[in-house]
Parts: sequence; C-alpha cells; structure tokens
Amino acid sequence: DHAASRDLYQLMEEASHYYQQQLRQHPDKTKVEKYLAYRDLSSQVIEQFGIGYAPDGWDGLLSRYRQNTEAQTKLLTAGMVIANDNGKQYDRFRDRLMFPIRDRRGRVIGFGGRVLGDGTPKYLNSPETPIFHKGNELYGLYELKQKYRDPQRVLVVEGYMDVVALAQFGVDYAVASLGTSTTAEQFQLMLRSAKQVVCCYDGDNAGKDAAWRALETALPLLKPGDLVKFVFLPQGEDPDSMVRQIGKEAFEELIDKADDLPSFLFATLTEKFGGDKSSLAKQAIALIEKIQDAVLQNLLLENLSHKLGMNSAEDLKKKLGVNVKPQTQPLAQQGIKGRGTPLRLAI
Ligand code: CTP
Ligand code: MN
Ligand code: MN
Ligand code: MN
Ligand code: MN
Repeated sequence: DHAASRDLYQLMEEASHYYQQQLRQHPDKTKVEKYLAYRDLSSQVIEQFGIGYAPDGWDGLLSRYRQNTEAQTKLLTAGMVIANDNGKQYDRFRDRLMFPIRDRRGRVIGFGGRVLGDGTPKYLNSPETPIFHKGNELYGLYELKQKYRDPQRVLVVEGYMDVVALAQFGVDYAVASLGTSTTAEQFQLMLRSAKQVVCCYDGDNAGKDAAWRALETALPLLKPGDLVKFVFLPQGEDPDSMVRQIGKEAFEELIDKADDLPSFLFATLTEKFGGDKSSLAKQAIALIEKIQDAVLQNLLLENLSHKLGMNSAEDLKKKLGVNVKPQTQPLAQQGIKGRGTPLRLAI
C-alpha cells in the first residue's frame, strides 16, 4: 500500500545517505579509498552515482534504528536487514562498496554491494521487495535522464562498474540490466527513452549468449524506427576495462560500428548452419515470425531472401510454398511454419 511504500523509499534514502557518510567518515575508510583508487573511480562519479560504503559489522545500519521496532521491520521488508532462524537481525550489506539503484523518479529502491577485492559473492544485490523488482529497473537510467531528456541512444551493459566507468569517461548514456539477461520490460523502458538501443555485454561466452537472448527478447517489441544494435568486445574485456583502455572516442567508434539486428541474426545463424541454407532459413523464419510489426517483418524477410541469393521476400515465400499476399498478419497465421514442418528448399 502507498503509505507503507512511502516509508520504504524514505528508509532507502536514509540508508543511502548513511553509506555515503561512512565512505567519508568510517575509521576503515582508507581501505575503501584504496579500492576506489585501484578501480580508478573519480570523486565526481562517486558523488554523481551516490556510491557509498557499508561498514564491516553486523548492525551498522540496524543500530541506527535501535529504539524503533517499526523501522526495523521496514528494514526487513526493504531487504536491508536479514533475520536468522532465532529471529536475530543483522545487516545484509557488510564491508561492501554500495551502489544505490534508483527508479525513474530518482527514488532509491535497492542496492548492489561489491566486495572490496576477491571475496564471494562479488556482488550482493537487494532481494525483490515491494519497491524493487529487478527485471523492471535499469541501473543508471535516472542518472542518464538527468543529463539527457531525450537521449539519441542508450547503451545497455551488464554491470554497475561499466555504467559508472563509462560515465566517468564521458560515455554518459549507459544503463545496466543488473545481470546478464536484459528483460522485455527493460527493453520497453529503453525504447521509450530512445529510438536506438545498443547492447554492449562483456566479451565472454556469457556476454555472447546474453546478446542472442537480447535479440530474441527484443524482436517482438520492435516498431518501425526502433533500432537495436550489438557491440562485441574483445575476449576478456568489458565496457569498464575497454573504455579505460581505448578512451571515449575509440569506444564511441565501436558503438557507431555496432552490428544491426539483422546482421547479428544472420551472422549467428550462418555461423551455426554454415552452408545448410534450408536450416538457416527455417531458423531465421522462426525468429522473424516473432516480430509483431508487419513492415519490419517484411523488411527482414526481404533481407533474408537476399542473403539466400533470391531477389525478394516474395521469391522466398514462393520457394517456401506460401501464397503470396500482402502481409497483414504474422507469418505463422499465413501458413509458414518455422518449427516442426521440414522445409524442402531448393537453395
Ligand atoms: N552480478 C551479480 N552477482 C554476481 C556477479 C555479477 O549480481 N555474483 C551482476 C552485477 O550486476 C554485475 C554484473 O552481473 O555488475 C556483471 O557481472 P561481472 O561482469 O562479473 O561483474 P562486473 O560488472 O564486471 O564487475 P567488476 O568489474 O567489479 O568485476
Ligand atoms: Mn539524497
Ligand atoms: Mn561477465
Ligand atoms: Mn563485467
Ligand atoms: Mn568489470
């Protein structure tokens, strides 16, 4: 309910202030400063993103609400405090660098906490709470919107550090999907903010898989004019390490040269099926069927037909034994079956 949520937002804001204050004042702050120096984070982005420090110890945050059992219950609800089997309560975040996650209105709704070094888990995140639904939020979107009311493009990356490092180097339009998969809700959110969404995941197998999942997630959402593109980083790099290595200009060249969605789709399927054009066409059509927008769907079919050495989408449909008609409904309903039906293509 609304009143209760309002209290949670206020509590999260207070927690964020507390962590920021600890970063400035805690006796252990030199070790945090060392880590921040090691990660080469500027005081400006630390300030801009409200980065803080959760001190070591079981009740740093909790002890601030010692006399207030109502607030303690809310800390539990907000995921900031954990109760063990004996009902004993303790801080969830201890000895971690704290990234506050804000909603579109700038309210703190959760945190990501990074261990200062090599411990596990590397990141500890707020659990799902009445005000925090991970798959619906994008880390950095509020900060981006503070800078650009109407951004041309949004870059979606995997992690907190990527967003912050990119901002530090002037690539100040990145958001993180808080994990490796970008959800449909997150794509909707980005496409509502900008016409162009550029996916830039880590240069590893997980990142490559994430890009393919992103393509599958984005396809049904696309409308004419929407652009979803893909940047692939060299093995072992992520946007944070990359921008530090090559700087803003070269990084933005990578973004400018990003693969568009059809290129990535066909390149991946070509890699997978090689010369087996029949399987390639079958898979491609299964994906193209997911597109809701008829104009875009025909564009991709057209594109596919050329890649398969035909002249037009009409040729492709003929080859597939489909009645050629103006496209007003998804292919599946027109009789093209992406899955199940073997396609005997003479191509
Ligand atoms: N992540 C997580 N829990 C983990 C590991 C990762 O929630 N144990 C999420 C975090 O949001 C993290 C993102 O996945 O930022 C990407 O993971 P990874 O590439 O491993 O971390 P980096 O963002 O590169 O962090 P760092 O540079 O600090 O190692
Ligand atoms: Mn504040
Ligand atoms: Mn990774
Ligand atoms: Mn990474
Ligand atoms: Mn990293």
